[in-house]
Amino acid sequence: MIMRILVIGGSGTIGKAVVKELSPRHEVLVVGRSAGDLRCDTTSEESIREMFVKAGEFDAVVTATGRVPFEEFSKLKADHYLAGLNDKLMGQVNVVRIGSEYIRERGSFTLTSGILGRSPVRASCAAATVNGALESFVKAAAIELPKQIRINVICPTIIQESMDKYGAYFRGFDPVPLAKVALAYSKSVEGLQTGQVYEVLY
Ligand SMILES: NC(=O)c1ccc[n+]([C@@H]2O[C@H](COP(=O)([O-])OP(=O)(O)OC[C@H]3O[C@@H](n4cnc5c(N)ncnc54)[C@H](OP(=O)(O)O)[C@@H]3O)[C@@H](O)[C@H]2O)c1
Repeated sequence: MIMRILVIGGSGTIGKAVVKELSPRHEVLVVGRSAGDLRCDTTSEESIREMFVKAGEFDAVVTATGRVPFEEFSKLKADHYLAGLNDKLMGQVNVVRIGSEYIRERGSFTLTSGILGRSPVRASCAAATVNGALESFVKAAAIELPKQIRINVICPTIIQESMDKYGAYFRGFDPVPLAKVALAYSKSVEGLQTGQVYEVLY
């Protein structure tokens, strides 16, 4: 079945790879804050709703967004945690809350967490907190979502293509290629499972 899929953050590192993986088989729309077929700022409920209204009918939503401050524990203030919770956690939670009103019956949401929730490194307290919360949200939402909607979350380790940017924090980690990470999104969107955390290690 050809699906109509919205990839929020589809111009980013992970998002681009997901678009590349799914585009040959489906109609894929790139959603971004500053670029894409549709615009949306996931930190604004109003912007999320406007985007879903403009999108028309759709079968699946992928979110590959979310910024969280990296700072050592002793320097992390409540505002740092709140910034990450607001952007990466509530941004994706609100996409599911609002999007569930608009998505087709038996549609799916695929969110993004990250390895730091399971294997923390220096300066990752805020990121780890957010990633853990996202995975708990997905498990709980899966048993209550209406219209037989499915939901999963992808938990990638550090990605080979991001090593230039973040490699110094991830010494000893075996980075995974983007193409392999994209397969986990395909498994979630094109498969039938729900409430799952797909950890993608090398
Ligand atoms: N890269 C890695 O190695 C890695 C590993 C594990 C987990 N992750 C997680 O995966 C997610 C994506 O990472 P990435 O490396 O692909 O990031 P990225 O390259 O910075 O891309 C992020 C994308 O999301 C969009 N975006 C950001 N904030 C947004 C907002 N408020 N509303 C709508 N769109 C927004 C950006 O669009 P604009 O440019 O227009 O803002 C961009 O297209 C993050 O949560 C990250 O923690 C990444």
